[in-house]
Amino acid sequence: MENCKEKKIEDYVRSIPDFPEEGIIFRDVTSILQDADGFALAVDSMQKLLEDTDIDVIVGTESRGFIFGAPIAYNLHKPLVLVRKKGKLPCETIEQSYELEYGSAVVEMHRDSIQPGQKVAIVDDLIATGGTIEAAAHMVEELGGEVVKIVFLMELAGLKGRERLEKYEVASVIRYE
Ligand code: PRP
Ligand code: ADE
Repeated sequence: MENCKEKKIEDYVRSIPDFPEEGIIFRDVTSILQDADGFALAVDSMQKLLEDTDIDVIVGTESRGFIFGAPIAYNLHKPLVLVRKKGKLPCETIEQSYELEYGSAVVEMHRDSIQPGQKVAIVDDLIATGGTIEAAAHMVEELGGEVVKIVFLMELAGLKGRERLEKYEVASVIRYE
């Protein structure tokens, strides 16, 4: 008999133990994207978390944040601003360094990408330690923007990234304990 049960987002996520380092359970976004229903459900679910929020700009973080930031910005007809790893943006930038669940990095934004007073929603696939989005939020604020909401597809709750972002409104579609 055919299984008619509707699939949930978590059914599309492949979890890989000990990648890229021992002890990390890697939540693989590619297994969502390579199923058209999974990708649509992911975008729609994230977008729903923004439906009551007044937004001027969507900010997406490199690289997996771009995958979800782009369709959401397109659907909401809002500008999309990219937070990129250092050295990728061609015009004048500001930067922030931060620590990751594994390793460290520096991210940048174009100085002219946010106007003072703009309401900004930041979008990423996943929150682990919260370092990436904290860095992005600090840059938005340095440019005079207001971070009105932060939306993730997946939240690794055990790493307590939300605590780091406690001054912001944070929402996620799936939560892993
Ligand atoms: C991953 C993920 C988030 C970030 C989460 O990106 O897509 O952006 O790590 O970790 P954090 O909450 O501890 O900051 P990564 O920097 O690995 O880059 P990628 O999207 O290019 O793979
Ligand atoms: N980025 C940081 N930690 C991650 C994890 N555990 N799975 C997928 N992406 C990540």
